[in-house]
Amino acid sequence: MDLKQFITIVPDWPQEGVVFKDITTLMDNGEAYHYATDQIVQYAKEKEVDIIVGPEARGFIIGCPVSYALSLGFAPVRKEGKLPRETIKADYGKEYGKDKLTIHKDAIKPGQRVLITDDLLATGGTILATIELVEKLGGVVVGIAFLIELSYLNGREKLDGYDILSLMTF
Ligand code: PRP
Ligand code: ADE
Repeated sequence: MDLKQFITIVPDWPQEGVVFKDITTLMDNGEAYHYATDQIVQYAKEKEVDIIVGPEARGFIIGCPVSYALSLGFAPVRKEGKLPRETIKADYGKEYGKDKLTIHKDAIKPGQRVLITDDLLATGGTILATIELVEKLGGVVVGIAFLIELSYLNGREKLDGYDILSLMTF
């Protein structure tokens, strides 16, 4: 299936110069969403994943259906101040702005094989911060899966040594 036809391009959003790739038009097509999810489920099986981790909010949209399909746990990475128990934190910058990401301290057990999911790889800031959190807890990042990779922002270069699946490249 050609997934690109379901992505809507929105110029100058959320700020001038950013060409936003809107995945909601893929999500609201049941067959396209199912097909995309299945590709990542297959990848997770190959990587013998123990748990899935995804950053707020669009990382949940991609990771949770995969987690459900494989009866695996899902550990949310959230922006600072959202998780109720003891967390660890990582600072990061992304295509449009800076933020802090957190994860519960007990979300991952040392040695667990982790798949990180997100909708889109832009500069790589979000995923680098997510990797930092997973590795601080002793998790092993065995794969990272995206719907979309923006190759013109060179995020992949920051993720040297990690195995990456991206279903579409712009
Ligand atoms: C977007 C997107 C990725 C990240 C990619 O999330 O969902 O997580 O930016 O950019 P980067 O590679 O430059 O870090 P955003 O922070 O906008 O949050 P949202 O998912 O809650 O909309
Ligand atoms: N997150 C960061 N950059 C983005 C873009 N260009 N489109 C959609 N989501 C994004």
